[in-house]
Parts: sequence; C-alpha cells; structure tokens
Amino acid sequence: MRNLVVYSSKTGNTKKLAEAIYDYLPKEKEIYSIEKAPAPDDYTFVAVGFRIENGAPDKATQEYLKKFIDEKELFLFATHASSPESEEVKEAMNLAKELAKRARIVGTFDCLGEVPEDVLAEARKQDPVPKWVLDAEKAKGHPNEEDIERLIKLLNSLDLPL
Ligand SMILES: Cc1cc2nc3c(=O)[nH]c(=O)nc-3n(C[C@H](O)[C@H](O)[C@H](O)COP(=O)(O)O)c2cc1C
Repeated sequence: MRNLVVYSSKTGNTKKLAEAIYDYLPKEKEIYSIEKAPAPDDYTFVAVGFRIENGAPDKATQEYLKKFIDEKELFLFATHASSPESEEVKEAMNLAKELAKRARIVGTFDCLGEVPEDVLAEARKQDPVPKWVLDAEKAKGHPNEEDIERLIKLLNSLDLPL
C-alpha cells in the first residue's frame, strides 16, 4: 500500500492542505511538490492539490492529471480566492476530474487561499478586474485551522483505500 501526496503551490496555501493530508495518511506515504513528483503509476492512493489560476487548475497540475491513465483512487483538493460557491470553482474542479480520465475520484475538497497583497495590487490593474480579485478580501487568513479541520473530517468520512 503506497500513498502519494502531490501539490502545486506558489505561495504555500495548497501546500498547507497537502501537509495536513500527508500527516493524516498511514505509512507508506510520500509527499512531493508537483515539479518533483513521480508519476502516479506505482501508488495505490494519490491526493493531488492545485491552486486555481485564471479560472482553471494551474497548468502544471493539468499536465500531471493527464498521467492518470490507470484506474486509481484519487483525491483532489484545491485553494482559490473566488467564493467557494462560485461556478468558477466548480468548473475548475470538474476540469481536474475530466483530465484524470480513468481515475476513481474518491473525494474532493477546496477552500479559500489568501492572495499576497502585491499580487492583488498587480491584478487590480487589469481591465476588467477579474472576479476572483474582487472576492480576495474574504480569502485573508485562509487556509486556517477550521479549513484543515473540515478537510480531516472529510477524509475521515470517506471510505479511503488506506
Ligand atoms: C496569477 C494568479 C491568478 C489567480 N487566478 C485565480 C482565479 O482565477 N480564481 C481564483 O479563485 N483564484 C485565483 N488566484 C488565487 C489563488 O488561487 C489562491 O491565492 C491560491 O490559494 C494560491 O495557492 P498557493 O498558495 O498554493 O499557490 C490567482 C492567483 C494568482 C497569483
């Protein structure tokens, strides 16, 4: 039984969730940033985390998810600045599911992720200002302890093949 956690994270938000999942998993387990991640083939259970960038999973994650060509148990998680109820977040998660063609999705989780002030200042110069930038105020301080608790609760409630 081998468990793998892979995360794509620029500013550390998605990495926080990845580390919580890693801590939760029983041995044998490995964790990698997406740049260093091995192909998922040799693992029984894989969790892949991404940030939403321009309305979709970040590009590195999109490429990685295409490697799921065998039936495999996959848990997807994400952070974003847009409202968790927004269509954008649902669509990004749906795209991630579609990319991992034959994987069996055992669960998904997403939560807000704070955007650094300098990034926001730059993004506000765009015309029109992207919707996620307008939502970003609410993302401050996330992921927080409650987000992590919600994540662990969800993992506990799933019938994971661990
Ligand atoms: C260039 C850029 C584009 C982004 N685009 C979106 C977006 O389209 N939708 C959204 O909800 N959040 C967007 N965000 C916010 C990030 O998804 C969010 O802050 C996330 O938690 C970052 O994760 P990380 O710290 O793991 O890199 C964007 C952030 C950056 C820097």
